[in-house]
Amino acid sequence: MQTVSNILSLRELRREWQLTGKRIAFVPTMGNLHAGHLSLVTEAKANSDIVVVSIFVNPLQFGAEEDLDNYPRTLAEDSEQLKALGVDVLFTPTVADIYPRGLEQQTFVEVPGISYMICGASRPGHFRGVATIVSKLFNMVQPNIAFFGEKDYQQLQVIKAMVTDLSMNVEVVGVPTMRHDDGLAMSSRNGYLTEAERATAPTIAHVLTHIKAQIESGNRQFKQLISEGNAVLKEAGFKPDYIEIREAFTLQAASFEDKELVILGAAFLGKTRLIDNLQVSL
Ligand code: PAF
Repeated sequence: MQTVSNILSLRELRREWQLTGKRIAFVPTMGNLHAGHLSLVTEAKANSDIVVVSIFVNPLQFGAEEDLDNYPRTLAEDSEQLKALGVDVLFTPTVADIYPRGLEQQTFVEVPGISYMICGASRPGHFRGVATIVSKLFNMVQPNIAFFGEKDYQQLQVIKAMVTDLSMNVEVVGVPTMRHDDGLAMSSRNGYLTEAERATAPTIAHVLTHIKAQIESGNRQFKQLISEGNAVLKEAGFKPDYIEIREAFTLQAASFEDKELVILGAAFLGKTRLIDNLQVSL
């Protein structure tokens, strides 16, 4: 595995691959890799000749109250794991490489509508930061195919909408969420939980699973299912941000006729904000 932090060196490699007709897969990450990330890499390997993984903690997607400085940075361990999986290139640009004119002057990519709802309403500017960095990384790596976790379901839909709107020549693939044995979705944020919080954390997955089972058995009382779910989360010690039942692709409020749904939840456990989702195909 080659580790490249310089954009020009990456472009040089990219040109060689293009000349030899290689199919490039890309997995963008912010590092602190867990089995969920590694499943994206495994999918990427199975679908390409060359796999590029980026590690870049993107300041543009963190809010003023969110702890960018304390985001876990574990480059040495991450690098070992990626090497073991046969990744070809690890791309580790610096903030100055990515935002050479400074964050204040940066041109943004903003996907309207879908970026402002649900998580976007709780984290203003977050999806603008994500769309901007992903479009920049796509320009640098120029992949044929890119892999994202379904754990960040809204992020995946924002990126798919961006690729469609900007006619980007890349296939965006969602990879199912990896879970611990107790149901908790794998996330770098789980590392922030205390032992007691970690024991409570799977409740969010259990609440979404219950709502999914209710919908599959014909219950369409969405408002009631949501309010019961929020009550269970509160009782367990969470501060719920939202539970939503949405149409799976537009993320608009689900109607009784919709056949493809997604149930999304976000809640604070202590200082940690956990998110999860489950898709329902009727
Ligand atoms: O999902 C993430 O880790 C990040 O939002 C991404 C896609 C790497 C952009 O910084």
